[in-house]
Amino acid sequence: MPEPISQTEYWNSEVGERWTAMQAELDRVFAPLTAALLDGAAPRPGERMLDIGCGCGETALLAAGRLGPDGGVTAVDVSRPMLARARARPASGAPITWIEADAQTHPFAPEHDLALSRFGVMFFDDSRAAFATIRRGLRPGGRLAVLCWRALQENPWVSVARDAALGVVPEPAPVPPGGPGPFRFADRDGLAAVLAGAGFADVAVAPVDALLTLGDDADEAGRFCLTVGPVAGLLRDLDEALRDRAAAAVRAAMPRERPVRLGAACWLATAVNPA
Ligand SMILES: C[S@@+](CC[C@H](N)C(=O)[O-])C[C@H]1O[C@@H](n2cnc3c(N)ncnc32)[C@H](O)[C@@H]1O
Repeated sequence: MPEPISQTEYWNSEVGERWTAMQAELDRVFAPLTAALLDGAAPRPGERMLDIGCGCGETALLAAGRLGPDGGVTAVDVSRPMLARARARPASGAPITWIEADAQTHPFAPEHDLALSRFGVMFFDDSRAAFATIRRGLRPGGRLAVLCWRALQENPWVSVARDAALGVVPEPAPVPPGGPGPFRFADRDGLAAVLAGAGFADVAVAPVDALLTLGDDADEAGRFCLTVGPVAGLLRDLDEALRDRAAAAVRAAMPRERPVRLGAACWLATAVNPA
């Protein structure tokens, strides 16, 4: 069995390169979810904001426009390729400081009005300690708004491709309970308990549902599913012939309507730093 790699190694491997290459497409596909996150986070002019696991920068850049020139964004990630893409993108509004650091332990200045994350908080070794670190980066009364995936079965944009791939490739070992992974916070009560345990008050967890437009046709949608997200991980390290068969099965499983749309289900968790 190969040694498990750390999340920092993982997001600096070909995975980070792949996400970087898919940045524009990914931001287009996730746009309805991003809009729900920004509405929930409600960044206001002049506020200082943290973006946790900012990746290629979409949420930091969009929020910077709302915060305006008197605001400020600190955007943190462990992935060098994704941060390099973020830094290279045109920015306006609040100045953005991009930092390569582990958000679980980084000593954030306790001055932020808001911390948000689009799918960047499910990969911590110790989620409660990590959220306590993030909370300490907020001033008293500062707000948290994070978007996480609900269960795999509630996310056809992943499960349709995954079920098709699993007709060809072996089932992966299950993620240990509480271990890092995209569905770490599928359980609503578990997510609320982690945030409360990290010292947050007024914790609320609300469902966000959207139809994602994965591509203009089945080929394009299949390519998207095979390039980002959990299905890509299933095909890594397989020999080429098996990978090709799995990819063909995924493309064949995509709906025939054009454009191809499949559902996504998230939790939007909001909370306040009481002290
Ligand atoms: C699923 S991606 C989401 C990226 C971006 N927020 C987006 O929506 O496109 C998860 C991100 O979290 C980052 N990440 C994972 N663990 C982290 C940690 N401990 N500290 C900072 N960033 C982390 C990864 O490098 C990656 O960029």
